[in-house]
Amino acid sequence: MGKKIVVANLKMSMNTSDINIYLKSIKNLNNKNVVICPTSIYIPYFLKQHFYVGIQNVYKEDLGAYTGEVSPLQAYTMGVRYVILGHSERRNYFKETNELINEKIKACLKNNLKVILCIGESKEEKDLLKTKRVLKKQLVTCLDGIDIKNVIIAYEPIWAIGTKVTPTNLEIGDTISFIKDVVYELKSDAIKVLYGGSVNEKNIKELNTISNVDGFLVGGASTDFNKFKVIIEEVTE
Ligand code: PGA
Repeated sequence: MGKKIVVANLKMSMNTSDINIYLKSIKNLNNKNVVICPTSIYIPYFLKQHFYVGIQNVYKEDLGAYTGEVSPLQAYTMGVRYVILGHSERRNYFKETNELINEKIKACLKNNLKVILCIGESKEEKDLLKTKRVLKKQLVTCLDGIDIKNVIIAYEPIWAIGTKVTPTNLEIGDTISFIKDVVYELKSDAIKVLYGGSVNEKNIKELNTISNVDGFLVGGASTDFNKFKVIIEEVTE
């Protein structure tokens, strides 16, 4: 994947009949720079298409008695190639810590899944001018002992997720360069950084002018294929 990438995080949206309609609209989506991450039970419907399929979360073990969980080994052998880890909804609702996320990243890389690691600050942390400190802590702990070759970062300010509010282009560009500098300091290697948080078909043209952004992670707008198509065309064509 040389070009910019677009990742769809479908979260827990859409029931089975909505998914059938969505699948019809994406049938001709022939784009290797797109990763679609459906709700786990719908994944089989999305495989064998001309885009990559990702999973929204996995557990840190390969196999075992972990009721309700899905493992990286199971995901990879099913045909999944990407995984979203550390999403703020997982951190907030399911109390995932940076340490657990670090273990999950290791388990995923061992199983050849490419990791999209989400980091971001809350509104309160932003207001207290703690953004850089929070992001650095997330990066240092989540990436501890990890070869970043198959890791992509998604910078998602929590206050921008699902709120229709985005930082300015200048703020996003500055934060992305901070993230790239921190990772370079830690790993002596470059990393791709996506932006996520209220990306939609209306603001994508402007967001896509940020020179150091390597792509976008899209939630709400990716569940409406007409909107998602506008985003894909703007970013990858
Ligand atoms: P949003 O979600 O695009 O609906 O703001 C982004 C995300 O949570 O990844």
